[in-house]
Amino acid sequence: MKPTTAPKTYRVKSFGCQMNVYDGERMAELLAEKGITPAPEGEDADLVVLNTCHIREKAAEKVYSDIGRLVKAGEERGQKPMIAVAGCVAQAEGEEIMARAPAVSMVVGPQAYHRLPEMLDQAVSGKRATDTEMPPIAKFDALPKRRKSAPSAFLTVQEGCDKFCTYCVVPYTRGAEISRPYNDLITEAQRLVEAGAKEITLLGQNVNAWSGENAKGHAVGLAGLIHALAEIDGLSRIRYTTSHPNDMDDALIAAHGEVGKLMPYLHLPVQSGSDRVLKAMNRSHTSDSYLRLLERFRAARPDIALSGDFIVGFPGETDAEFEETLQLVDKVRYAQAYSFKYSARPGTSAATMDGQVPREVMDERLQRLQAALGRDQHAFNAASVGKNCEVLIERKGKHADQWLGKSPWLQSVWFEADAALGDLVSVELVEAGPNSLAGRLLEMVSA
Ligand code: 5AD
Ligand code: SF4
Repeated sequence: MKPTTAPKTYRVKSFGCQMNVYDGERMAELLAEKGITPAPEGEDADLVVLNTCHIREKAAEKVYSDIGRLVKAGEERGQKPMIAVAGCVAQAEGEEIMARAPAVSMVVGPQAYHRLPEMLDQAVSGKRATDTEMPPIAKFDALPKRRKSAPSAFLTVQEGCDKFCTYCVVPYTRGAEISRPYNDLITEAQRLVEAGAKEITLLGQNVNAWSGENAKGHAVGLAGLIHALAEIDGLSRIRYTTSHPNDMDDALIAAHGEVGKLMPYLHLPVQSGSDRVLKAMNRSHTSDSYLRLLERFRAARPDIALSGDFIVGFPGETDAEFEETLQLVDKVRYAQAYSFKYSARPGTSAATMDGQVPREVMDERLQRLQAALGRDQHAFNAASVGKNCEVLIERKGKHADQWLGKSPWLQSVWFEADAALGDLVSVELVEAGPNSLAGRLLEMVSA
């Protein structure tokens, strides 16, 4: 490959989970430190980072088609972009990407992206670069300081997974569970608040497995970190995601009743309502132990909004077992939830299990599950009408003075106000749709 000119503009396209969004922002900061600027909206970038997700089907194929599209657009305008593939597909299929896609100059795994600047120098000098090493924590130390933040910011506190649910690629793409040190997190949170964040969502594949040593040298879990973050002036809201039922502790449940800044929302994946399926998934909780856990959260914070993840059509799932999932949904009445068709992931133990469920059966189950979840989400929204709550403004609406923000229960709320991004306002919720609510401004809380 011949030396290329150094890129002047970049675009980072992040797919998949919120942790990828966080990683995408950090990669953008690294590129900005090298003097590369974001490509203006609607214009092609000199460097495109595809920050990929491998959790469900067609991820890899999508990467190849995205690369094809970028190359074609580049040929049409007479200048091909430099392409980097990052994220979990890079980790899982890095070598194959390099072999199959000559247009790709860099392949960088989720634990190695702090090396992007050096890799870029290498790519500019004509050498393709790959790094899919998984050194624990190193990347965070090597990242630049936070300088800019949206009103609602992500902060990765924990990464990786040791649970090995039998369907999941995460333990292979993100590596073993690690917790970032307490002091680093407090510092990063303070910087985010100085940079404009009003809300911080703590991220981890098993965020509630986070553990560390506080400033006094005492061992603390996620609840201890949340209590400390709540002391930061200017930070109004704290959230965390995603949790595993087996890593819940009393302190975290109690924190929902103790810390006013901790929002009344819990995302706790269950995956299935059938104990046989849960066992085959290696989830190590039962439907009953999960329900009991939720009751404890409801006791600590009666208005808590519950969310979850579901997989339909896990190998061997029978009609009766799927019905148990619907029964669990009826008992919980989720405020909101995510549901997916099972997708065999290369290298996972479920991929070779007997009893793979036909696609039509999965389609039908997913439709029924989503109808039930949609019904409950709408009912939750409808039950919110008449309540007054605070909304954090995150986006401008289509009309002048129209804004979109999030309620404490993570509902999208539209309303009109003479306000600005990042303002906290008090609204009355006046009308509910399936996916959002309309609000009426009562007063400004803080600008
Ligand atoms: N197939 C379908 N859904 C999956 N998830 C994880 N792995 C798979 C898979 N192989 C879902 C789970 C998890 C969410 C992030 O993605 O529900 O909680
Ligand atoms: Fe995947 Fe299970 Fe780990 Fe979640 S807990 S990341 S589903 S292996």
